[in-house]
Amino acid sequence: MILVTGGAGFIGSNFVLDWMAAEGSPVVNLDKLTYAGNAENLASLSKDVRHVFVQGDIGDRALVSGLLDKHKPEAIVHFAAESHVDRSILGPGEFVQTNVVGTFNLLEAARAYWSALAEPAKSQFRFLHVSTDEVYGSLTMSDPAFSETTAYAPNSPYAASKAASDHLVRAYHHTYGMPTVTTNCSNNYGPLQFPEKLIPLMIRNALQGKPLPVYGDGKNVRDWLYVGDHCSGIRAALKKGRPGETYNIGGNSERNNLEVVHALCEILDELHPSGAPHAKLITFVKDRPGHDWRYAINATKIKNELGWQPTEKFESGLRKTVQWYLNHSQWVENVTSGAYRNWISQNYEGRSAA
Ligand code: NAD
Ligand code: DAU
Repeated sequence: MILVTGGAGFIGSNFVLDWMAAEGSPVVNLDKLTYAGNAENLASLSKDVRHVFVQGDIGDRALVSGLLDKHKPEAIVHFAAESHVDRSILGPGEFVQTNVVGTFNLLEAARAYWSALAEPAKSQFRFLHVSTDEVYGSLTMSDPAFSETTAYAPNSPYAASKAASDHLVRAYHHTYGMPTVTTNCSNNYGPLQFPEKLIPLMIRNALQGKPLPVYGDGKNVRDWLYVGDHCSGIRAALKKGRPGETYNIGGNSERNNLEVVHALCEILDELHPSGAPHAKLITFVKDRPGHDWRYAINATKIKNELGWQPTEKFESGLRKTVQWYLNHSQWVENVTSGAYRNWISQNYEGRSAA
């Protein structure tokens, strides 16, 4: 039995589905179901007794402690977070509350539970903290990729809140000896991603014939990892990761944003032709404040120590992703409710074409 937090979000729900298929042991899934959480992602598990879904907040100590005492998990895999950089710029408070205070609360509940365990359960327990490469800040084109020893330099409120949570996790290992493992991953893409992030937003807009809003000059670089590869990386870190260590997870797929959007347009031209090339919809808009220039991951440590490396090529992963969104238009319709439309006007109205 493991306890997953945020398991109704994009990566969390992919992880729960992947875990069930690969490991099969039961999962307690604690998720607040914010705008980003969607119980429909787990519909295929609705009759599966191995999956226990609990709607609640990681900040609710009584709830978390009760779940730990009742289900006695061997591990906590912590995904729950506010995750969108643009939202953190327009409203950082919720990011501090969930990512920092929420993680602190989860760590405190976990510490009480873990301290009372008998051996060997105590030393076998793991608190796996899912974090991001954004904690390392921004690279120039000639800088070496982020490694586990790169100094933290978070630039957005989101990145700062994740960095703070990473520091707390580190301290709980160093001070109390709690067996924590932290993973820092690059940009994920794939099925079930909420259409506020670059790839699903561009797919949705293109299918509706709407402008494709590229921030700044579109030259910012990200490293892209197919979500299924992230899930297998987390499983490897959970099984074989050394307590107190951090592992970078990346896709060896650096692309600038314009390259990504053009690649999406070409796939859509082929799979869903609209009469005119989708690339005609590309519109340059006002840049994100403090926009990090480049992220790149050196994933040598996880490859050498844990034998993990990504298996999906960016081009094939992107094609699968576009096909998934084409096949799941009802899912997109369901998640892009009134609240989604409010966000789109809040974020994009002030960014008239550059
Ligand atoms: P997401 O926004 O899609 O999902 C977050 C989930 O957490 C949602 O289901 C939401 O309901 C839940 N949640 C939010 N606040 C909560 C709270 N207080 N209590 C309980 N549940 C709460 O995020 P994602 O993209 O799936 O990211 C998951 C994790 O992975 C995050 O910690 C993020 O920082 C990290 N990460 C994401 C990426 C990426 O590219 N998306 C890359 C690296 C790391
Ligand atoms: O690097 C890991 C991080 O990747 C995760 O920790 C975050 O949770 C996740 O959201 C993601 O952050 P980014 O800011 O890199 O992702 P996003 O999809 O928001 O943007 C990717 C790039 O595309 C970035 O350079 C900004 C740009 N962009 C984004 C949007 C939403 C646009 O040009 N236009 C857009 O409309």
